[in-house]
Amino acid sequence: MATLKTGSLETGAARTASSPPAAPTTSPPGSPTEGDKDQVMKYRHVVVRRTGGPEVMQIVEDELPAPVSGQVLVKILAADVGFSDVNIRRGRYPGGPRPPFTPGYAIVGVVERLGPGAPGLAAGQAVAALTFYGGYSQYIVLPAQELYPMPAGVDPGEAVTLVFNYIAAYQMLHRVAHVAAGQRILVHGAGGGLGTAFLELGHLAGLQMYGTASKPKHGLVQRLGATPIDYRAEDFVERIATLTGGAGVDAVFDPMGSAHLKRSVRAVHKGGTVVAYGYYEAAQRGSNPVLDVLSEYIRLPLWSLPPQRKHVAFYDTRPTKKKHPDWYRDDLARLFALLAAGELRPVIAARLPLEEVVEAHQRVERADARGRLILIPNP
Ligand SMILES: NC(=O)c1ccc[n+]([C@@H]2O[C@H](COP(=O)([O-])OP(=O)(O)OC[C@H]3O[C@@H](n4cnc5c(N)ncnc54)[C@H](OP(=O)(O)O)[C@@H]3O)[C@@H](O)[C@H]2O)c1
Repeated sequence: MATLKTGSLETGAARTASSPPAAPTTSPPGSPTEGDKDQVMKYRHVVVRRTGGPEVMQIVEDELPAPVSGQVLVKILAADVGFSDVNIRRGRYPGGPRPPFTPGYAIVGVVERLGPGAPGLAAGQAVAALTFYGGYSQYIVLPAQELYPMPAGVDPGEAVTLVFNYIAAYQMLHRVAHVAAGQRILVHGAGGGLGTAFLELGHLAGLQMYGTASKPKHGLVQRLGATPIDYRAEDFVERIATLTGGAGVDAVFDPMGSAHLKRSVRAVHKGGTVVAYGYYEAAQRGSNPVLDVLSEYIRLPLWSLPPQRKHVAFYDTRPTKKKHPDWYRDDLARLFALLAAGELRPVIAARLPLEEVVEAHQRVERADARGRLILIPNP
């Protein structure tokens, strides 16, 4: 087992995550030194002890846990940072963890050590996991069945975007909306983490795409093959009507929530599909997300009635994975194959060390990132 760089932190000591990185020790991982047998293995991870703003995140050094029966210790190479992590940290994610916890919805890494009875895996193997929380860490212990094989040689930062964002976009496009080449779609939040995933996958599927984004992200949206719509300056319903000659689009993908969702329904043609998958606007306003989600659910059946017959579906990655584990496994394998073949080039806004986690969340809250922010816990 590798010896971790422990930096200058005391065991169990905490500091704010935005303070400068600890100075590295002279013993790199895997270099046994005099007295190693007495040395306790340490790792660093981000801990939220109370929900709140980005500043509640601290970096803590703890003893490295050992995998028990059926578990695997994974060394994390990249962790995804997105708006869902922000909601979890704020304590505004229905069903989210209670403090203390480590945020981090998705990771990729390598198998460091196997517990007894963890079949089908080998030390050094590249793996991915949808963790929900726990990913902002140098190491994580997970049940073996939660790990998915990742092709060797792919970039970990790009690979981790597939585990949550691309899989969500892929499933909404192909398993919920069942898009076909030549169809027209509208993607909201098109310059963000999930939005850019939609555009890359939509382009591969031969779709005609429109994307709402603030003006500074229009170049990116255009580069990814979509017609940008400045949602701050123009009414997207009217703009879609103009752009489609009054026909409307075949499908809309809406993470914004209830009032916005109602307008999205107006942008699809009769018989078209709206996929709701978030409550971004309510979360940014500080309203109760549960009420927002419930109000969406209540409205869903009404919109599918005649004469409109618009299909409105709600999508959430984790329950979908639980209900259809084969979809998740197959779709992730398909996405990894596309990445390995060079057909996907995920847009990464920045790769940051764990120490910059506070800045990373501040950037997500300000919608300051073009594409995805990635944490690299073991640089
Ligand atoms: N259901 C699921 O399985 C699932 C999975 C992943 C994410 N999500 C949800 O999806 C949403 C996006 O997540 P993310 O991680 O991709 O966030 P993100 O990277 O921060 O992207 C959100 C984007 O929305 C844009 N935006 C803000 N207000 C807008 C508006 N009124 N109209 C159009 N665009 C607007 C922001 O930039 P500009 O304002 O500069 O354009 C930003 O680029 C979140 O609500 C998240 O919880 C759901």
